[in-house]
Amino acid sequence: AKIHYIEHDGTTHEVEAKNGLSVMEVAIKNNVPGIDADCGGACACATCHVYVDPAWQEKVGYPDPMEESMLDFATERQDNSRLSCQIKVSDDLDGLTVRLPEFQG
Ligand code: FES
Repeated sequence: AKIHYIEHDGTTHEVEAKNGLSVMEVAIKNNVPGIDADCGGACACATCHVYVDPAWQEKVGYPDPMEESMLDFATERQDNSRLSCQIKVSDDLDGLTVRLPEFQG
């Protein structure tokens, strides 16, 4: 699946993502800046915060209660905030666009 990451300054990274990886892991593997992922994907740091493009929100789904409580630690949380380590890449998400916040954590 193709994932588009848009940095805070508008720089766009289009990367080919393997199914089963998380949106966070794909960003790290492809050197997309703006995701720190301090906890390595354990849903325990909120430094992999992204904004899901509103057109994709329904497909991507909404945070579970654990992610929900972690998101409260994310800087400038919005309605479309998600932790990218909790979004799994699949064919359904081909073309997904996420925006990266200016700061993490
Ligand atoms: Fe820590 Fe996602 S990498 S919460």
